[in-house]
Amino acid sequence: MRKIVILLLAAGCIQSVNSQSVPSFVGAGKTVDPYKYSIVKKGEFNKAAVSCAHPLASEIGAAIMKKGGNAFDASIAMQLALAVVYPGAGNIGGGGFLLARKSNGELIGIDYREAAPSKASRDMYLDKNGNVQMALSQTGHLASGIPGTIAGLFATLDYAKLPFKQLIQPAIDLAEKGFVISEREAAGLNSTRESFIKYSTRPTAFVKENKWKAGDTLVQKELAATLKRVQKEGAKGFYEGETAKLIVEEMQRGNGIITLDDLKDYTAKLRSPLEFDYRGHHIISFAPPSSGGILIAQMLKMIEKYPVSSYGFQTVKSVQLMIEAERRAYADRAEHMGDPDFYNVPVKTLIDETYLAKRMSDYTPDKAGSSTSVKAGVIKESEETTHISIMDDDGNMVSVTYTLNGGYGSRTVVGGAGFILNNEMDDFSVKPGAPNMYGAVGGEANSIQPGKRMLSSMVPTLILKNNKPYVVVGTPGGTTIPTSVYQAIVNIIDFSMNADDAINKPKFHHQWLPDEVMVEKDFDADVKKQLQAMGYKISERAAIGRTEAIRILPNGKRETAADKRGDDSVAGF
Ligand code: DON
Repeated sequence: MRKIVILLLAAGCIQSVNSQSVPSFVGAGKTVDPYKYSIVKKGEFNKAAVSCAHPLASEIGAAIMKKGGNAFDASIAMQLALAVVYPGAGNIGGGGFLLARKSNGELIGIDYREAAPSKASRDMYLDKNGNVQMALSQTGHLASGIPGTIAGLFATLDYAKLPFKQLIQPAIDLAEKGFVISEREAAGLNSTRESFIKYSTRPTAFVKENKWKAGDTLVQKELAATLKRVQKEGAKGFYEGETAKLIVEEMQRGNGIITLDDLKDYTAKLRSPLEFDYRGHHIISFAPPSSGGILIAQMLKMIEKYPVSSYGFQTVKSVQLMIEAERRAYADRAEHMGDPDFYNVPVKTLIDETYLAKRMSDYTPDKAGSSTSVKAGVIKESEETTHISIMDDDGNMVSVTYTLNGGYGSRTVVGGAGFILNNEMDDFSVKPGAPNMYGAVGGEANSIQPGKRMLSSMVPTLILKNNKPYVVVGTPGGTTIPTSVYQAIVNIIDFSMNADDAINKPKFHHQWLPDEVMVEKDFDADVKKQLQAMGYKISERAAIGRTEAIRILPNGKRETAADKRGDDSVAGF
């Protein structure tokens, strides 16, 4: 039955859906009240649980499951809701990855990463002297890849139970009638105001005459109309017809290159998840075009032969070991990883135990390594993203990370369609060795080619224990994503932490280049001093990631935690 519905949707044969006819649980005084909501940082739920960046989206996810939906239904409704209530990263103009394990053990990886437009070319961000014009890959019309999110949601629908028109209705209501914004959102919109004006060619709902303040209502009529077209016409309501026309017209008013054919030809792809074991646990993670799964496999495998728990949590000894694994993994990222449909990524070798042992052979405890001497391994084989963790009553685990790339993406809002486009082209290596907005470097493997998907760090992840669901985890944070997930896993497995501690303890990050360790402000000052004495350059930085985790307790309860670093919130029952 489901297949038939999808085929009909794909063919655009579904008859007009009157949005008023779909019962909604979103509204003043209803189950989800957009004018009155609160942040819940943790909870233990008997049946179903979610954690994500915004309380309204979390409440919608839980309500969908209460109404008979499964974790896949919840992931669709939550991504659409976040596209309205969390415009800095929630999106329909971006892309992402969904990783799931069904209750019957089947693994699913959906890649809806943005792709380079057909008119993109290797040197498109270089001036005539070969210098990188960073502003072009990071802001405005030329910065956008072809959006993948809507295609990803329709690919996810294959595993869902409820009709799409029902899953999208909460987002339509939130966009049409508005919701109350938090202090954090008000600050985000105010600080982006000038770029919205500069990079959008039409007035947008995100720019207000006076400054936004907490408690203001954000109404997005144009976005509501776009969502209604998707409700009525399926994916075609985005990739063809009116919405596609509005995107292309926006491109033509700016210096953009996305065409009607680019949109029509975009497809989400199924990817086999990357699997490995760590200290008796089975880890399932995302394969290229995300670098994340390979990176966490490399880092965990590099430290596995060391008795990390006996070193103690964030002692100099455990932190130094973990940093050196990070350095080596990120060196490989720069050289060997890219879109597997365009570049032969040597996945097997990169996570091979003998290869990884060799990578760590020059590790010297008590002495800082150096990124001049540590290079990528030789292989002979040819801030703002957002994460959703969901576990339903049937035992389905769903982990989704999706993004516009930077906060509020390219800052170009599609005129008449009301959504922000991504600035994901910056995740390509625009010139060999030139750092992108996260300081990541790359080369041939991640060079720009038409249709190619830019290398990502996003890594939705699942852990099984005794072959049973144990943890759903993931985070935003650009290149810090794999280190955050790696540290959350080590916190749970090596240091026996609960979900809340595992995600909220201070973090540290090394990405090979620049050769420095970034630490959060609350990182232990004494450990920092000792690492500096060993020769590490340490810099303090703002929050690293916003991780959401669910851990299944032996009694079956879903221990659910939302990151303290934002408005992130859990819900469940
Ligand atoms: O795919 C990537 O790796 C980046 N575009 C993710 C961006 C991100 O996490 C920004 N958030 N803080």
